[in-house]
Amino acid sequence: MSSHTFGLAGIMGWPVAHSRSPFIHNYWLKKYGINGAYVQLPVAPGSLGIAVPGLAALGFRGCNITLPHKVDVLKLVDEVDVMARRMGAMNTIVVQPDGSLKGFNNDGYGYIHSLLDAKPDWRADAGPITVLGAGGAARAVVLSLADRGAKEIRLLNRTDAKAQALAKEFGSPVKALPWSERHAALADVALLVNTTSQGMHGNPALELDLTALPLSALVSDVIYVPLETPLLAAARLRGNPTVNGLGMLLNQARPAFEAWFGVMPEITSELRQSIEASL
Ligand code: ATR
Repeated sequence: MSSHTFGLAGIMGWPVAHSRSPFIHNYWLKKYGINGAYVQLPVAPGSLGIAVPGLAALGFRGCNITLPHKVDVLKLVDEVDVMARRMGAMNTIVVQPDGSLKGFNNDGYGYIHSLLDAKPDWRADAGPITVLGAGGAARAVVLSLADRGAKEIRLLNRTDAKAQALAKEFGSPVKALPWSERHAALADVALLVNTTSQGMHGNPALELDLTALPLSALVSDVIYVPLETPLLAAARLRGNPTVNGLGMLLNQARPAFEAWFGVMPEITSELRQSIEASL
């Protein structure tokens, strides 16, 4: 790797103080006895263009990238992995042995593995999937579900045009439906995903009538504050299995840690519980 024996990584964003990533990566550094640190890198939008090229010179193995930089950072790295290119956004930079920068996006990996952790026999082709929202999180969720073999993804967004644009960009199996049809779009689905900000701490709950949703459908939310959104609570109360957004956060961190530090880390129950306690 690099000549630096101290392994340095971090999270670049604006703001970054709320991020749980330092907790996760520093837990793993300690657990695996790796000499290093994962630090906050608060970088204002106007400074991204000088901060990113400085990573290698500062001895960083790489970093995570969060809001508002996930799209703008694409043009600042030497190479972009195919998944990040298709998503149009990056969440991880890895400094290569020659000092060049390669960009990745592990959010889709994190999402799929959060479902598999909850339900090891989960399959993307088990039935129709309904995804609510068409922002950055929706791009990661929809692309990863399509790659896993989903046959029908119904995409609905408050601003219909954004769902239509995404369906056009991604093509089959994604079909955009009008937001007004979200209640009926739950019929026959095997998986319902909320990627909107509705239900997040400080925001109102998603307005959604679950009557048409089969009781066997898995209901997932990418939100993890709170751990149980009003959508997940309503789904659980009527008997649906549910998956919260914490697993996506934990699972997206694993391949990044491996790329920087050479160990594929485990999500222990101790790690999960201590993060849950901090939320
Ligand atoms: P992220 O990167 O987390 O996906 P984002 O790109 O800002 O964040 O996307 C937020 C999503 O929440 C969008 O799909 C947004 O819908 P619009 O495209 O219509 O803005 C959705 N959203 C935000 N407020 C909403 C509301 N009150 N009702 C329904 N959807 C909402």
